[in-house]
Amino acid sequence: MITLGIETSCDETSVAIVKDGRKILSNVVASSLKEHKPYGGVVPEIASRAHLGALLPVMDASLRKAKIKLSKVDLVAVTRGPGLMGSLLVGISAAKALSFSLGKPLIGVDHVIAHIYAGLMDTKTKPPVRFPLIGLIVSGGHTLILRMDGPDQIRIVGRTLDDAAGEAFDKVAKILGLGYPGGPEIDKLARGASPRHLQFKKPILSKDSFDFSFSGIKTAVYYKVREIEKAGRLSPAIKKEICSHFQEAVCQALVEKTLAAAKKEHLKNIVVGGGVSANSRLRALLRKNAIFPSMALCQDNAAMIAGLGTALFRAGHRNSLDLTGYPNGHKA
Ligand code: KG4
Ligand code: ZN
Repeated sequence: MITLGIETSCDETSVAIVKDGRKILSNVVASSLKEHKPYGGVVPEIASRAHLGALLPVMDASLRKAKIKLSKVDLVAVTRGPGLMGSLLVGISAAKALSFSLGKPLIGVDHVIAHIYAGLMDTKTKPPVRFPLIGLIVSGGHTLILRMDGPDQIRIVGRTLDDAAGEAFDKVAKILGLGYPGGPEIDKLARGASPRHLQFKKPILSKDSFDFSFSGIKTAVYYKVREIEKAGRLSPAIKKEICSHFQEAVCQALVEKTLAAAKKEHLKNIVVGGGVSANSRLRALLRKNAIFPSMALCQDNAAMIAGLGTALFRAGHRNSLDLTGYPNGHKA
């Protein structure tokens, strides 16, 4: 079964061709990140315009790379949310047009759940991960711990009550005058430093809860930096130290709660997904316990959309041409 996946929820335009839900024949990604950099964040209007320009060339490139003709596509899968509405609509409209003109079924996929599904597609993982599993999703927009018993059987175990983990990385980087996106910058700068004690409180709510709160640590970093700045001591070495303390507190909180959730749910399989799963410290701390998708599958991509779309289709789901997008929340 050949699935064509489309992802346009944020600043990446991606089209992938996936065979039988796991074998990635192509996964082409174009990004408008550079156009957003001067603004320190994704500008929705710029993102939707970039998708309009990139989608057809990216689709052509993906089909060519997979050596698949459009007529051989059996299923069209598309991200329906969460994301920027204007961006989502570009992908959804294209998917509907393809589905209608090819006479092939259409399936809308949740972007957040797809980030976890990416871990099940990674063919380098032997033996392959299976449901049930605990999923940790850490991205610029989401921080969730989920229990997944199947592609459409999902229960939220823990979540952030305010900022997402990636958002906290981006905001702290901004406070420190580092580039955007902040996560990779902090990761790079923190390398080599090894905080022995935690300078910032771990962003967890309480011992018994699996929820997070990242706004407090961001404020704590802000006041710390202001205090050091006033004293005229904000050197590159101090910035490095702050980055490593911040990163350590965030990663320890994520790891602690994910392992506790797996224990409570009596599950061994843990999959980590979303942009922050690229973080080297998080990977090191969870190396023995969790599956991380390969770097290409960690970033926003359409292979994970095609993969989850195929699994949902096989479980009996499909959508009509009335399919709409949603900016927030998530849907199985
Ligand atoms: O999943 P993603 O590509 O986009 C969505 O938010 O859906 O995640 C982007 C986020 C950004 O906040 C970025 O700063 C963060 O992932 N990120 C990282 C790293 N690489 C990307 N955060 C920490 N360490 C990294 N190495
Ligand atoms: Zn994402």
